Amino acid sequence: MADTTTLLTNIGELVTNDPSRDGTPLGIVCGAALVTDGSRILWAGRAADAPPTDIARDVGGRAVIPGFVDSHAHLVFAGDRSAEFEARMSGKPYAAGGIRTTVAATRAATDEELTAQVARHVTEMRRQGTTTVEIKSGYGLTSHDEARALVIAGQFTGETTYLGAHVVPEGVEPGEYVDLVTGAMLERCAPHARWVDVFCEKGAFDADQARAILQAGKAKGLLPRIHANQLGHGPGITVACEVGAASADHCTYATDEDLANLREAGVVATLLPGVEFSTRSPYPDGRRFIDAGVTVAIATDCNPGSCYTSSVPFCIAVAVRDMHLTPAEALWAATAGSAQALRRDDIGRLGSGARADYVVLEAPSFLHLAYRPGVPLIAEVSSARWSRGDDSLLKK
Ligand code: NIG
Ligand code: FE
Repeated sequence: MADTTTLLTNIGELVTNDPSRDGTPLGIVCGAALVTDGSRILWAGRAADAPPTDIARDVGGRAVIPGFVDSHAHLVFAGDRSAEFEARMSGKPYAAGGIRTTVAATRAATDEELTAQVARHVTEMRRQGTTTVEIKSGYGLTSHDEARALVIAGQFTGETTYLGAHVVPEGVEPGEYVDLVTGAMLERCAPHARWVDVFCEKGAFDADQARAILQAGKAKGLLPRIHANQLGHGPGITVACEVGAASADHCTYATDEDLANLREAGVVATLLPGVEFSTRSPYPDGRRFIDAGVTVAIATDCNPGSCYTSSVPFCIAVAVRDMHLTPAEALWAATAGSAQALRRDDIGRLGSGARADYVVLEAPSFLHLAYRPGVPLIAEVSSARWSRGDDSLLKK
């Protein structure tokens, strides 16, 4: 039996991310309608031209946008680091070493506790319009704890990332740890991950170690991505381009040469505005990236240390206010850009064949996402598939 078709009509402003619609990257259609079969978009266009469907729903002139793609999140953890945040707001700088506090709490937690924690954050994200999330390991740092984090993450998403190389754990010699991350730990984790990641930074892993870790992951069939240039200028972006990473994330410190390399190598720069906000660090100038022809994504980096927000709308507002993206560029970055950062073409857009992952805004225009910061503007998230348990937030 064919799936029931639904017409969503009287859409004041539909963001398709199909530039052929209006000659801009957002591909806006006014007075629009969408037809879905509950899992895929069958048709999008002007309401007057819509085909007949089984069911029709009027959204009252509200704006409809693609569901947010949060391409960078660390959700498998226990405990919080609110005291560290408080100290930071009194002037203490953020340092990579804080990760070890969360590692101790995460190792001590049961599988049930960790699973409940991920479920809570995924639900929180969904309420804020996110329909796809990437989830990293990285707070276990033993073969057992990293593999269990990935198995738990895999209950919620297909976009799982092996981040055994988050930091060198207490009491372990760095060389030995890199051998473990590229050897026995990778062996255990690879079957449960799509991506391999490394924190390339002073206090974490250097360029040679990062290269070795990403190459080892690639040899096991994982796709590379990287935490690069977060705390200072460094080699992370260069390594990303050398290994053909899908995305270099953070890029808080990037030289003109880094930007040229990202553009040439076709590596997405994923900016994480919540991190600079929550660590009170200088923001990278997103305008520079866009003007240099680099593809930009925006994600939350939701984690207990550097940025404990699960809200993409918040990140969009900060990207506009403090990274100098236009509202249109910021929305594109958090949907189409972050889909590219995950090498996906079935999400981050609303056109025939794409997943029916859309958000109805309690607003007439997407502009309100940045114009009305902190306001709950998510009226509806395409929810039929979520409630059936096979939404893209769940593993495919
Ligand atoms: O992306 N930079 C590395 N990892 C996380 C922070 C993790 C933590 O502080 O617990 C980040 O910012
Ligand atoms: Fe991160």
